[in-house]
Amino acid sequence: MDAIISPAHHPLRGTLTVPPDKAICHRAVLLAAAAEGETDIRPWPSAEDCQRTLHLVQQLGVSVAASPEAARIRGAGPEGLRAPGPDLFCGESGTTLRLAAGLLAGQPFSARLTAGPSLSRRPMRRIVEPLTRMGARIEAAASAETGEEMRPPLTVHGRRPLRALRYELPVASAQVKSAILLAGVWADGPTTVIEPQATRDHTERMLRHYGARVRREGRAVTVEPSPLRSPGPLVLPGDFSSAAFLLVAAACVPGSRMTLQGVGLNPTRIRLLEILQRMGAAVRWTVTEASWEPRGTVELEAGPLQGLVLEAADVPGLIDELPILMVAAACARGTTRLQGLGELRVKETDRVRSMVVALGRLGLRIRLGAAEGVELEGGRLRGAVVDSAGDHRTAMSLAVAGLVADGATTVRGVECVAKSFPEFFDFLRRAAGSPTVKTVDKG
Ligand code: S3P
Repeated sequence: MDAIISPAHHPLRGTLTVPPDKAICHRAVLLAAAAEGETDIRPWPSAEDCQRTLHLVQQLGVSVAASPEAARIRGAGPEGLRAPGPDLFCGESGTTLRLAAGLLAGQPFSARLTAGPSLSRRPMRRIVEPLTRMGARIEAAASAETGEEMRPPLTVHGRRPLRALRYELPVASAQVKSAILLAGVWADGPTTVIEPQATRDHTERMLRHYGARVRREGRAVTVEPSPLRSPGPLVLPGDFSSAAFLLVAAACVPGSRMTLQGVGLNPTRIRLLEILQRMGAAVRWTVTEASWEPRGTVELEAGPLQGLVLEAADVPGLIDELPILMVAAACARGTTRLQGLGELRVKETDRVRSMVVALGRLGLRIRLGAAEGVELEGGRLRGAVVDSAGDHRTAMSLAVAGLVADGATTVRGVECVAKSFPEFFDFLRRAAGSPTVKTVDKG
């Protein structure tokens, strides 16, 4: 499917509620599966990735009643998960695969995690190493390119109890931290992960919500081996990472004003809001519900944007928003320097490359810079044919860029938005008007 985006001829307006948070949903499902009691998770996200996690726990013998609105999961309890028959296919969902590996490491059976083509190329040594040190045995595929990095499929031979671990993460990664913390639930003592920089803390919050003892001291997070108990119904907040595309669209089209309601405002996820403020947009956010995951309202009014320098330390707080931040920088006056983007190169695609190539085709002066960085000069974009490279966040970022380019922009291969935000083009049409946003099925 292609998207054909025309320049936005009027300001974007709207009060929107984005779909539920995918990252929080994965955690809710995995912990519900291993907990005592029944958990009702709603609203249920239509994101493909969440479906992968739900199907995976079903294959572990967990009873699930699913409808388009909700998933009701009857927890198997500490001894209740069962060895799956067939492989556990994770599609392109890295969070499903890495977090499930942590959960499986502590189960007394073996399971094989398989992946789609893009996820099959992504690095897994980062989870294999700590989980192996905890006592699990994991077989991984070798990369055809380098012959050494560990890739999916992963066969996890679990062990119970695991050995407690104190582990310093070599890269700031919430997925790796989460895999270790989930394994730590079945360890023989407290397990500590030390992060180089704070990453999203959804797993810590969710573990606490299910009754686990988790504490943070500075950069160190510790989980105690704990029984898990369902907290009852879980209402997911809106996904901030989906909201980000709409917020930047509004920040880039002059005169726009947008309100998002019920969106997740976890402080470890919303660095983009501070960055957009620093760049010159008027952004206000209010927590209306300070529950296990805070949520509330974001209001944004467009203003003249100014380029900025982003330090590597800022990256974990907006890891999934970096592609769309490049679009905001394209709309800004002056130079923007983004540094420390190494982790962006091992996402669904090398997002540094896919964004540099595509924004370059749209006429932007953009190049790879020092310190694993990108440097770009804000300026006028001109419509062109660009490629999503099969990456959902690249596809959505380029569609937003199309709104501010002169002439029509065609984004090739946009069906990948289904991974996280299948309703994205409907939302963009609601904000920018139907004639501006068209999708064409290529059959
Ligand atoms: C995620 C963590 C991040 C992020 C991904 C989801 C999570 O990945 O990019 O989309 O839910 O824990 P890394 O841990 O690889 O940085």
